[in-house]
Amino acid sequence: MNGNWRRQRWSGWTLLLLFALAGATALAWYGRDDGSITADAPLVGEVEETESGGQKLIALTFDDGPRRSTTTALLDGLAERGVKATFFLIGAQVEDNRDVVRRMDREGHQIGIHTYDHVQLTDLNRADFDAQVEKTRQVLKATLDHNDFLLRPPYGILDDSVKAWAGCPIILWSIDPEDWGDQNAAREIEHVVANAKDGSIILLHDIFSPSVEAALAIVDRLHAQGYLFVTVEELFAARHITLEAGKVYRDAYP
Ligand code: NI
Repeated sequence: MNGNWRRQRWSGWTLLLLFALAGATALAWYGRDDGSITADAPLVGEVEETESGGQKLIALTFDDGPRRSTTTALLDGLAERGVKATFFLIGAQVEDNRDVVRRMDREGHQIGIHTYDHVQLTDLNRADFDAQVEKTRQVLKATLDHNDFLLRPPYGILDDSVKAWAGCPIILWSIDPEDWGDQNAAREIEHVVANAKDGSIILLHDIFSPSVEAALAIVDRLHAQGYLFVTVEELFAARHITLEAGKVYRDAYP
């Protein structure tokens, strides 16, 4: 399955949006050169350029779901804001929430594997590894009718066996507000916004209400700073980085 994990996921809608944003960016830039847009004029489409001239991109990722109540609230909030995220799911929780997972997929979010029972993947034999990763992959494949899922090992702990057996790219993160700890939305928001950079991958958990509240506030704050929220695969594709099975990725900083 090394060959088919990466089904083409760029929807026409996504490309259209990116083209529209690129156009708005170009217009804003042209206007600046022309002197016709002053510092206090709103930037076209709220698009803000990086120093290298590209769009600032950032990826929200959520682990340990789905949990029907909180995940549904998050999906509602993301839909209102037109934001795509990436969800690393627990296989055992997919079984009773297949409709929620299908909704994620239908609404353009990316889906990954976070093991079947949320276990640390190191020091497992191949059969036990497959009972966590491959079993979850099969549950997701049966639910969604595609088979291109990324892997995020629980706790971010991995070794050479995990890389060799993953069968897909391994995605870690670059911003972690440890939202599972105090579950303090205000603190999480400040931590993420203060550390956000073009190309960051943010880790949150959609099983906690304060994390859902924080995620939506983070979207609003970073939208105001000109960020475009994309899925993990879109983030790396935009940076011309081809994700490879068994390799580990933490960010897409320019
Ligand atoms: Ni986890």
